[in-house]
Amino acid sequence: MKQSSGKTCGIADKPFDNNRRTFMRTTALTAGLLSAGIAPFALAAKGGSQTARNPLRIPPTIAPGGAALSAAPARVNIGGGKLSSVLAYNGFFPGPTFRANNGDVADIAFTNGLSAETTIHWHGMIVPPAADGHPMDAIKPGASYAYQFPVEQRACLNWYHPHPHMKTGEQVALGLAGAFIINDAEEAALNLPSGLYEVPLILRDANFDSSGNMTYTAKSSGFLGKTPLVNGTLSPQLEVDTAIYRFRVLNGANARVFRLALSNGAPFIVIGNDGGLLDTAPASVAELELSPGERLDILVDFRNFAVNDKVMLRCLSAGWDLLEFAVARAVTVAGEIPAGALSTITALADPVLTREFSFDGMSRINGLVYDMNRIDFQVPLGQTERWRFKTGGNAPHPVHVHGASFQVVSRTGGRGLVLPWERGWKDTVLLLDGETVDVLIRFEAYRGLYVMHCHKLEHEDMGMMANFEVI
Ligand code: C2O
Ligand code: CU
Ligand code: CU
Repeated sequence: MKQSSGKTCGIADKPFDNNRRTFMRTTALTAGLLSAGIAPFALAAKGGSQTARNPLRIPPTIAPGGAALSAAPARVNIGGGKLSSVLAYNGFFPGPTFRANNGDVADIAFTNGLSAETTIHWHGMIVPPAADGHPMDAIKPGASYAYQFPVEQRACLNWYHPHPHMKTGEQVALGLAGAFIINDAEEAALNLPSGLYEVPLILRDANFDSSGNMTYTAKSSGFLGKTPLVNGTLSPQLEVDTAIYRFRVLNGANARVFRLALSNGAPFIVIGNDGGLLDTAPASVAELELSPGERLDILVDFRNFAVNDKVMLRCLSAGWDLLEFAVARAVTVAGEIPAGALSTITALADPVLTREFSFDGMSRINGLVYDMNRIDFQVPLGQTERWRFKTGGNAPHPVHVHGASFQVVSRTGGRGLVLPWERGWKDTVLLLDGETVDVLIRFEAYRGLYVMHCHKLEHEDMGMMANFEVI
């Protein structure tokens, strides 16, 4: 097993050092999972035009009412028949896409088929604490748990992933993640592209051993894989019609920030983010920055393309070709880009207090490493508060809060502005070195225990997380 050491932990994060031996492990799925006769594969270094491209996988869709979900090791085809050992929900990598309407009830019978404890967190979903996947609610190997919650929130793209104590990075990196889409009437009235024209894109990076199995090495500065995957597909291609497409984009990577652009310079038309549709008109932007846990709802207009044209979705910061769009069919589509405001959002206002959270080093918030049994602060239900996120360095820190969405009101230092795709409702916001980000937040649904944390999963696992109680 190839092992790159996690020697980059140069800062004095004492409690982390105590946990170092548990944390600094390389994980690879065992060779015992390999079935005989499967040839090891060589990974294409970069998806250029030379590379044979694989059809983009679209995970199957399931409804959350009366669903069964398992997490277990699986062998999956990541493209071109290359089999890889991963961890998968219901055998799929990424897991099945849940699709619900606002007002539905989720009742998901989960079974842990892993050899370690796990939980499921429904990132972006406002659910009761008992269904939130808090590390305290760890599910033992072989055990089951019923995740039950009403789906009571506006249309948006959320996602689900493990959240066990100090093991989130490993379990997510080895494959456990899936999309959870909510629809509602406000969104339906816009007649956005749907069916084959609405495509989830789960972006991430990965490492593989010489047999092609996914590996994970914890690294305090964050896990960065050498190979991009979209929907678990290596060098993917999507055949498109000459139509407008709606892409539901999730950064499902542990630590990598993607900087997205189209190879032909065409803009993305941003219509939504973490918490659903923007309250502005669609925003046309050439480049988009997306940090772990964040989502984007974008339209791409292929109407003026010719059959056989190709466009690449690229990551400018990594220099990666992520996904090739191959224009395959000319169609006469009535698709339109909506004009005017996409939705109505009431701005939060008049915070009664300000709480400051300093993301320190790689493992502390306000100087403290996460302690599962310590409640760091209490928030009254229904109270509007200003939360100020700042950092002493070691960013990017994508800051994520459970139990409520927030509105970003300002960013000072660093990039110094709120980006067009950060308007409306968010649950994860990127904090770069030197930046202070203010958000307004109000917990309205449930009382009880939640967490907030850095969504660079290695920082989270090392303790850059806090417990709070809504009272
Ligand atoms: Cu997506 Cu607490 O995490
Ligand atoms: Cu969350
Ligand atoms: Cu961080």
